[in-house]
Amino acid sequence: MKIIHVSAECYPIAKVGGLADVVGALPKYQNRIGNYATVIMPYYDTAYVEKAMTTIDFCYNLVVDQKTYFAEILSVDDPSLGYPLFLVRIADLTDRKEVYGYEDDPLRFVAFQRVALQWILQKNDLPNVVHCHDHHTGLIPFMMSHCEDFSALKDIPTVLSIHNAQYQGQFSHEMGGILPRFRESDLGLLDWGGMINPLAAAIKCAWRVNTVSPSYMEELMQKANGLEWLLNHESAKCVGILNGIDAETWNPATDTYLHKNYNIRTRQSGRKANKTALCDEFGLDASKPLFGFIGRLVWEKGSDILPAIIDQALQEYDVNVIVLGSGATEVESQLANLAIKYKGSYNAYIGYQERMSHQVYAGVDFLLMPSRVEPCGLNQMYALRYGCMPIVRSTGGLKDTVIDLGEEGGFGICHNDTSVGDVVYSIGRAVTHFKDQKKFKEIQKTMMQIEHSWEKSAQMYVSLYNKLKKEVK
Ligand code: ADP
Ligand code: GLC
Repeated sequence: MKIIHVSAECYPIAKVGGLADVVGALPKYQNRIGNYATVIMPYYDTAYVEKAMTTIDFCYNLVVDQKTYFAEILSVDDPSLGYPLFLVRIADLTDRKEVYGYEDDPLRFVAFQRVALQWILQKNDLPNVVHCHDHHTGLIPFMMSHCEDFSALKDIPTVLSIHNAQYQGQFSHEMGGILPRFRESDLGLLDWGGMINPLAAAIKCAWRVNTVSPSYMEELMQKANGLEWLLNHESAKCVGILNGIDAETWNPATDTYLHKNYNIRTRQSGRKANKTALCDEFGLDASKPLFGFIGRLVWEKGSDILPAIIDQALQEYDVNVIVLGSGATEVESQLANLAIKYKGSYNAYIGYQERMSHQVYAGVDFLLMPSRVEPCGLNQMYALRYGCMPIVRSTGGLKDTVIDLGEEGGFGICHNDTSVGDVVYSIGRAVTHFKDQKKFKEIQKTMMQIEHSWEKSAQMYVSLYNKLKKEVK
């Protein structure tokens, strides 16, 4: 099976969040089970890209709205990735420091998708499936099925993975000229709510649509930022497939970021050493229960209530807290200010640091995830693998991966609402459990034994593609 993954992010090339982790691992696991999966993504000015060994695979002059952009596709020589990687460099459009956040993002990503399709078009060996991730690649199924330029690709199945339906990439019809030619009668396929909506267009045009956990698909059918009706209408082709984790990158026994490596057997001494090092770095007390938060400081993650949670928890309980995150400026400054008030029991690193995230999973006793929306969530799966207990709001993928301690086989702490009261109450439960160290260490063992590696889900995607292969005329 020849699979092409098209994505805006891919770890370790460019990462903003979990999308990168998924696209950086899934193809590797698909290749291990006998497929030929490749990744194509935009070329950004990231540290990885700057150092990468590349060769030019394809050049193309892309004309958009009468302006010509020079594009080249670079093949990256990095066997450690586990899949061939191609970078689409479009002069003045993709080659920037950040992945997202520019005013001309619609143009940047449409141009990327158009060049990626031109590259596929000239291949001798066409793929069996084109797998698109999120709205940044959502116009591909439409272009493949309805644009004359790509008519040679119209029988190739397309799959859309929705990692996050909060972001849909809408832009005005006035900018429609950035797309390749299509019949006016097909305009409706692009439209949702009077805008060109790439995510909606992908839901309409992709052969299959999946979310990154089963519960998130159920939730989207009820509430999807305006797309619920569409998803219900297309439900026959919709499915939920739970993400996995890259069990090699995220392995406490070999993780080079850790102060001390450990496995299930040595978890006690290993985790203690990592907790001590983390507390030293953050000026905290390693003898107290340590709670952490890692993530984008956005509404979906419940980060706006984080300052109030920390404030109340530190007044009620003798615990320590660490935050690693960046995002909304107001939340960032509230979190930074709290570190002055609670010096010695709370601290934060405002920013993004891959190394530190690994050290936090290995060092904190509990990980807070009060998410309002969590399509899958990888943090809780990393936490489990590192023997750190997740405290989650039961939603989306969190609901599918964490069982509350009060239930049979439970190993985490779950609450219903993204509210200060619910989270602080859960922190109280955590403190009680922490006191029974013998039992707590047994639960850590259970957590570390849980299998969330990509093997199973990689196979589920391949089975899905195989079904589509049979549908090809
Ligand atoms: P999302 O994709 O919605 O941000 P996920 O749970 O799927 O959420 O994935 C988040 C990923 O980003 C994880 O790999 C997590 O460790 C990482 N991450 C988030 N914020 C930071 C940060 N400030 N520093 C380092 N890693 C971070
Ligand atoms: C999105 C979601 C997150 C998910 C990730 C990878 O960023 O917010 O829940 O884990 O994609 O699929």
